[in-house]
Formats: sequence, C-alpha cells, structure tokens
Amino acid sequence: MQIKFKIFRFNPNLENPKPGYKDYEVSTQPGMTILDVLHEIKWQIDGTLTFRRSCRSGICGSCAMQIHGLNRLACETQVERLKKKMIVIDPLPGFKVIKDLTVDMDPFYENMARIKPYLINDEPPPDRERIQSPEDFHKIEDPVACIMCGACTSSCPSFWYDKEYIGPAALAKAYRYTFDTRDKGAADRLEVLDNKHGLWRCHTIFNCMDACPKGIKITQHIANLKKKVIAEKY
Ligand code: F3S
Repeated sequence: MQIKFKIFRFNPNLENPKPGYKDYEVSTQPGMTILDVLHEIKWQIDGTLTFRRSCRSGICGSCAMQIHGLNRLACETQVERLKKKMIVIDPLPGFKVIKDLTVDMDPFYENMARIKPYLINDEPPPDRERIQSPEDFHKIEDPVACIMCGACTSSCPSFWYDKEYIGPAALAKAYRYTFDTRDKGAADRLEVLDNKHGLWRCHTIFNCMDACPKGIKITQHIANLKKKVIAEKY
C-alpha cells in the first residue's frame, strides 16, 4: 500500500535552521514497522534523515518517538495497524531536539541517576547472595520490565510544564528499588522524591501508562510511593 509519511525535520547545522515537516511516499508491505519505513527512507530516498535505533526488538528503547500523536517504539508499531493513509512522525515531545527525530536524553538519565537506581544496603553481606522470595520479587516485577525509552516521561504534561520534574520513569524506578525487600535506601531517596519537583508534581494524569510500551502500571507505583512517604514521614 502506498502511504504518505510526514516526518519532522530539523538540522541545527544548516545556515538558517528551521523546524518543519517533509513528506515521503513509501510503498509498504504487510508486517512492515515504522522503523522499517524509516530505514527505507534513509537507505533509498533521503540519507539525511536522522533517528536512533538499535535492537529492532523492543528491548533497547532507542527508537521511541511520537507516531501519529502517541509515543511509541518505532520497531513495535506496525504500519498496517495504524489504518492511516498519512502518518505523522515527530520526535519525543518535552525533550530538546538534536536533529530530526533524535532528542537530547541527558536530562532523562540525570533524573534517573538522582533517585539512586541501585540496591542500597549497608548491612554485612551474607555468605552467598541476599535472598529474595518469589512473592517479594513479584511486588517489583512490573517496573523491572522498564527499558528506559523515555516514552512515559515525554508524554507527561507535568514534565512539559516543569522541566525540573524528575518524571514518571524515574519515579517508577524509585518504586522498583524502594519496594525491593533487600533495599534499605528509602531515606536516601526521600529528598529527591518528597518535594514539588518529585512525587508531588505527579497529578495522576495517566498519560505515562498509555505511552509505556511494556504496559508498566506507572501511575499505581507512583501512588504507592506517595503513600509510603506519607506513612513514614508525616
Ligand atoms: Fe504524569 Fe503519569 Fe503522573 S502522566 S502526572 S507521571 S500519572
């Protein structure tokens, strides 16, 4: 099927850089993904188109972008299922565009680092590993699936408004470690979580859950973190 793709273009290296859209016609086959289309354009039509990708299997999170108004992974989005004759592709909103569909993810990773995304436990280690029961693992299993694509944080209106907000991805990661029965670092994360750019900037808008390609219940995890902070601090 012949489909028109309207793709956001911006090249800061041009003499007069202006953001805008460029149209491409691509003949698509059943099963073709948006990432396949971007490759087709880059390899056959316009080699200047810039985008990130790596695994092509929904694991690395590199190819998150806005596809016809919704944040999605390009490698997991089949063209046929969108049922459109014209498809608009934009970079992830809320982040600075570096070039075309590539955005600056540094603020995303910096926020992730601020919540100390690792086990904190100063107790002397046992002879072998710190044991966790299957039941306890089940409590954190859902956010463990996060691939750090940034689709959730980029879809959150609170993040668009407040660039200091650490965002749903970092909060879900904070939940994953704070509710890990082997972790003792809840107090170390409190300063980042318990302020107006932390947990309380989440207004339960739910966009993050709609955008997550792994179906992680992010809003629910943020709510559980809020309850924990209230119970333990106030
Ligand atoms: Fe944003 Fe998700 Fe909260 S969209 S406001 S982080 S529920």
